[in-house]
Amino acid sequence: MSLDRAVSLRDLEPLAEAVLDPAAFAYIASGAGDEHTLRDNEAAFARRSLRPRVLVDVTAVDPATSVLGTRVPMPVGVAPTAQHGLAHPGAEAETARGAGQVGALFCLSTLSSLALEEVAAAVDGPAWFQLYTHTDPAVTDDVIERAVSAGFGALVLTVDLPVVGQRDREVRGGYVWPTEPGRFGTFARYGDGAGAGLHRSQDTWAGLARIRERSAPLPLVVKGVLTGEDAALAVEHGAAAVWVSNHGGRQLDRTPASLDVLEEVVDAVDGRAEVYLDSGVRRGTDVLAALALGARCVFVGRPVLYGLALEGASGVARVLGMLQRELVTAMTLLGTPTVADVTRAHLA
Ligand code: FNR
Ligand code: LAC
Repeated sequence: MSLDRAVSLRDLEPLAEAVLDPAAFAYIASGAGDEHTLRDNEAAFARRSLRPRVLVDVTAVDPATSVLGTRVPMPVGVAPTAQHGLAHPGAEAETARGAGQVGALFCLSTLSSLALEEVAAAVDGPAWFQLYTHTDPAVTDDVIERAVSAGFGALVLTVDLPVVGQRDREVRGGYVWPTEPGRFGTFARYGDGAGAGLHRSQDTWAGLARIRERSAPLPLVVKGVLTGEDAALAVEHGAAAVWVSNHGGRQLDRTPASLDVLEEVVDAVDGRAEVYLDSGVRRGTDVLAALALGARCVFVGRPVLYGLALEGASGVARVLGMLQRELVTAMTLLGTPTVADVTRAHLA
């Protein structure tokens, strides 16, 4: 099985389902509850239309941009997702190599199969570390310190998972959430008790100061914001970027699609921080819609895991390459030779 039969990211899910263990596929693909939000994430892009400008010189189209001062070849990065070992034996090291092949920004999850140092050794491009705090603050501090010394360029604190959402499809598919620390490489060294502490209901705005202190000098990104109120709070608490996300519809079902709250967040942030978006991005045109509403960068979750399952590092690179080629075509047709040319006026 390979990616040869995939024309676009839409084709990946059935191809990946055929090669993944059924419980692993259920874990990756599922959304919370009735999956209203999961469906709406993609539907929201379909509700928006683009306003192309013609007779613009598009002989040279360049999707490159920068995020937090780092040059990236396109405004599309790899979202942090847990347990890549479910998709490929090479796990996150393989994903990091794939992202590196195209130079895309790679965000590593705290709940990786491999230890963060093992992944850092395979990183060949810009990489950030996503943090889930541990109930034991000493463990959290140590993980942050390890991520800083391993050379990750930013700390992404995920704030939409005080508990893991209820994902019916995952349960029906026979997936069982692991509690032993050995399944999460970064936590393996903290011993048998570590698995029990992997929940984050203790996180509050007040606790952000401590995380910022520990992660300095890395910029802090707050991931999982869906309201203007929380976006403003994130900025007031020192976030360098606010990441709009409903966790790919995996947490609170019936939250709006990420795209539908982007404008509210961009307005609340008011230029004081960068704004990113994930959840449902599958097309070059989706990227453009998010940019038009003020996102600086978007991230993709499941499609990368599907590419990983199908073909390892080269599968990851091919999925990202597909999106990049679509983006270039869409930019050409929209009449926007650079990402800076994409404005609110390009969206109906
Ligand atoms: C995730 N996501 C996630 N987010 C995070 O901050 N830390 C994590 O460990 C995980 N784990 C995870 C596992 C799996 C299997 C999925 C599908 C997602 C959420 C992820 O970063 C991102 O928000 C969504 O995946 C984006 O939606 P799409 O692109 O999958 O629609
Ligand atoms: C998930 C958690 C791990 O979405 O972020 O499964």
